[in-house]
Amino acid sequence: MARHLITSALPYINGIKHLGNMVGSMLPADVYSRYLRQRGHEVLYICATDEHGTPAELAAKAAGQSVEQFCAEQHDAQKAIYDGFALSFDYFGRSSSQQNREITQEFARELKANGFIEERAIRQVYSVADGRFLPDRYIEGTCPHCGYDKARGDQCENCTRLLDPTDLINPRSAVSGSTELEVRETTHLFLLQSKLADEVEAWIEEHGKDWPTLASSIARKWLTEGLNDRAITRDLDWGVPVPADVWPELAAQGKVFYVWFDAPIEYIGATKEWSDADPARRDWKSWWYEATDVRYTEFMAKDNVPFHTVMFPATQLGTRAPWKKVDYVKAFNWLNYYGGKFSTSQKHGIFTDAALELLPADYWRYFLMANAPESDDTSFSWELFATTVNKDLADTLGNFVNRVLSFSLKRFGDTVPAGAEPGEAEAALGTEVAALIAEYQAQLDSLQFRKAAQALRALWSAGNVYLETKAPWLQIKTDEAGAALTLRTAMQLIHLYGVLSAPFIPATSAAMRAVFASSEAGEPGWVSEEQATALDFVAAGTSFTVPPVLFAKITEDDLAAWRERFGAQ
Ligand code: MF3
Ligand code: ZN
Repeated sequence: MARHLITSALPYINGIKHLGNMVGSMLPADVYSRYLRQRGHEVLYICATDEHGTPAELAAKAAGQSVEQFCAEQHDAQKAIYDGFALSFDYFGRSSSQQNREITQEFARELKANGFIEERAIRQVYSVADGRFLPDRYIEGTCPHCGYDKARGDQCENCTRLLDPTDLINPRSAVSGSTELEVRETTHLFLLQSKLADEVEAWIEEHGKDWPTLASSIARKWLTEGLNDRAITRDLDWGVPVPADVWPELAAQGKVFYVWFDAPIEYIGATKEWSDADPARRDWKSWWYEATDVRYTEFMAKDNVPFHTVMFPATQLGTRAPWKKVDYVKAFNWLNYYGGKFSTSQKHGIFTDAALELLPADYWRYFLMANAPESDDTSFSWELFATTVNKDLADTLGNFVNRVLSFSLKRFGDTVPAGAEPGEAEAALGTEVAALIAEYQAQLDSLQFRKAAQALRALWSAGNVYLETKAPWLQIKTDEAGAALTLRTAMQLIHLYGVLSAPFIPATSAAMRAVFASSEAGEPGWVSEEQATALDFVAAGTSFTVPPVLFAKITEDDLAAWRERFGAQ
């Protein structure tokens, strides 16, 4: 028994996420959380919407809503989809919560008291027509290098050169198009990361040893390039206000913290939201403060790694308080969609809401995890999706369950048949199954999701091989007791699959467990090696029902329609 704190990168509020976002953070975190709970560990899986920043303000404006209203609606819309994907958050919070505001301000006070925050005057572009300072990427103009006329103030998308807004020829506001731009001086808070660099480096040396290469190599690269002081405030209406007790002038000017300052703190904020929501819950601090008995695992896509391995730890270290820091960083590469990244801004790929319109969550959950971009970027294709679903889910798993139960019902009625005593084939099957479970556990323990999915599929295949070898439909002609034994044994596997598959395909797993009248409702536990080897879960005489087809096959017509709808070329 250990206490596991699990977080997945906070999805940004400005729109519905795509399947690339899902497979790179929330879904694997959910699979891992479900697995650990089944193993009997105490788990707290926390996520939230990341709500502050300019993109949220602009998206609200485009939707003709106040930013508060926009965020409230978008939070609920995202939450509904995550429920549809059966994500088992213990809490799904909001970075705009009162809790996050207070903790973020407290972090800033402590950082200031320890000498890690300083005020600096900088010159920034101000748009008179928009009445606001413009972040670099919201200034557009002509690239001085290649002449592209929609270059952004931070980078030219055409020639990829990094730019400074003052480099642009004919600069204009990307918000309104206005060219009435001025450079004004404004004061911001800077986090003195340079003063923390050595400590962060030492911390990564010590704690990053066991991280996967993807995470540790990105962290080291950032450190080698040097940890610069960073502006952590912005001139925006929407954000966590700078605390007036420490910085009265800046507070009066309406400065708020930069979204990347308050977003990771929301992992803590959301935990407080969770514990505040019910006094019976364990105190939030016991998960985050002097929490030496907690193991903390973070899930994210690779672009998020620098913030989680370098900047947030620097912020935590600078408070000089014993905040829980990450123990293990599980990072993911990109899932690509037909020659490009899945992209929200370009509306390229499959979005989570559309996915659920097509098929139930378990189809996507299994497919995505079995093909998770762990060691490299991977590409989604409709062919790969159809093959995975049809072979693994429909044929290997679903068909096994239905064949066994329908045949047994026809020949032996609606209770588990007794038949002969288990023999050599059953003993061999038990040994094989126990070994495969050990492999499955080992892969899940080390967060290797593709390999875990392979082990799960091998368990499903073992049932098929056993069934084909024993061939109860032939056995029954000469050896009725032997046929009954085969079916009873196969039914043990159905129950076992219902337990073991639950982290990946929770709804189907529940349906498999519900086949038998004896099975307990609620979340299943795990199985011991002895139980697995003995293959003895459901007693002869137990009533069962034949569930509807677990997974429908994807047809050529489906594929044609989806390729068309989602622009697959
Ligand atoms: N919203 C960010 C993104 O989409 C992730 C924030 S993760 C947290 O990339 F650290 F800020 F919480
Ligand atoms: Zn250019």
